[in-house]
Amino acid sequence: MPEDFNRRDFLKTTATAGIGLSIGASGLSGCAAQLKSVPVPFTVPPIDTVRMGFVGLGHQGSNHVRNFMNIEGVKIVALCDIVPEKIDTTQERLVEAGHPKPTGYSNGHEDFRRMIDEEDLDLVFTATPWKWHAPICVAAMENGKHAATEIPMAITLDECWQLVDVSERTNRHCVAMENCCYDRTELMILNMVRKGLLGELLHAECGYLHDLRGLKLSPTFYEEEWRIKHSIARDADLYPTHGLGPITQCMNINRGNQFDFLVSMSCSTRGLNLYAAGKFGADHLKAVQEYALGDVVNTLIQTKLGQTILITHDTNTPRPYSRKVLVQGTKGLVRKYPEQKIYIEGVSSRSDQWEDLADYYEEWEHPLWSSMRERSRGAGHGGMDYIEDFRLIQCLREGKPTDMDVYDGASWSAVIDLSERSIAGRSRSMEFPDFTRGAWQDREPLGIIEG
Ligand SMILES: NC(=O)c1ccc[n+]([C@@H]2O[C@H](COP(=O)([O-])OP(=O)(O)OC[C@H]3O[C@@H](n4cnc5c(N)ncnc54)[C@H](O)[C@@H]3O)[C@@H](O)[C@H]2O)c1
Repeated sequence: MPEDFNRRDFLKTTATAGIGLSIGASGLSGCAAQLKSVPVPFTVPPIDTVRMGFVGLGHQGSNHVRNFMNIEGVKIVALCDIVPEKIDTTQERLVEAGHPKPTGYSNGHEDFRRMIDEEDLDLVFTATPWKWHAPICVAAMENGKHAATEIPMAITLDECWQLVDVSERTNRHCVAMENCCYDRTELMILNMVRKGLLGELLHAECGYLHDLRGLKLSPTFYEEEWRIKHSIARDADLYPTHGLGPITQCMNINRGNQFDFLVSMSCSTRGLNLYAAGKFGADHLKAVQEYALGDVVNTLIQTKLGQTILITHDTNTPRPYSRKVLVQGTKGLVRKYPEQKIYIEGVSSRSDQWEDLADYYEEWEHPLWSSMRERSRGAGHGGMDYIEDFRLIQCLREGKPTDMDVYDGASWSAVIDLSERSIAGRSRSMEFPDFTRGAWQDREPLGIIEG
């Protein structure tokens, strides 16, 4: 413990010179005595042109490249993927759009280390299979580069701690890129919460409910069939952050509130075997394979302020897409799936009846969405991916704290490991580690950001 305190004190003191802006913005005086007990929203001096290296150019990585190549102040310097053709295609796309040709790195799974070592980069962006996220972010930060990664940021508790430790020690950003925090409805709900429409928050429901049977069992969709390997190996909420990210922003997790503990339970495993038998034949390897992942995994989190969050992971069954997104407070509740509805006592026209949420957009639209609506049109996942990428670059260029940070990424990702342990222990209650080491009590909630 003393070592931790020494390091944190050192970081806070050394950070003071470069981050006066953020200290002022968060309402703190710049005095070292106060900084000792009050965490600083992490910032670095503004970066005028953000020189980027990409690792992973599959479905989501190439979406991000398309966004970043259209964002002012970005230079894509290097590309890394185990498949050389994906580098060729991305290089061509960039050159056709009038950008310089980035250097390619395609010499195996560890070639990202050479890219990080050789290239003059500010930011390494990762969109690889999950097991590479933490190793790439660590390599980037240890080499003085900032890191941003597709979600989840990490897949074990050890990796979560490693990323927090390395980010603090190196003073580098490690950003968990949760695009759903920038979706229109989630942003509007956050705006409603900030302005008190729902009252004090009590409960939320969220999740990732996406029929991925066909994609997970496809021999070609995910490179090296990386995704099904997790369903074979782990019974856990494998992908908690799409639902959880926006909810934690509403509940100020790591910023005045904290996850306390969780319990998880998973049901039988049927969907993948049945689907594979129907598609490939009953004797096919994928039909007889033993999958660890229960078809529906439910996790219940209690927060330090007494709220509950129900998260569902369901990627093995025939069903329409949903992230649920239900937020309930003392004055009423709002939900996104299956239909956008709201009920607010004293505001809704009929007592006891849902209203269409569509009627609330005009008054409650989040200003970030309003200002970015045109620019994000046509980009991935309804535009939210562009807003996410734009905000990352805007924060780096302005030297401001990123909207999502290493503590967010660690606490969201911790649900994977904790839910696995809870399920293995007959729904044993699992305490969350406090990745902020107590700092959550003094950190300020994310404000109403604008683009
Ligand atoms: N936020 C979202 O909405 C969203 C959507 C899709 C995927 N994702 C995330 O994006 C990531 C990638 O998913 P995907 O669907 O693009 O998968 P994919 O298989 O299409 O892409 C992964 C890419 O990484 C490359 N790769 C694998 N190992 C590598 C290594 N060691 N070094 C360099 N390159 C390597 C592969 O060749 C492939 O091109 C995952 O983390 C996934 O969860 C997020």
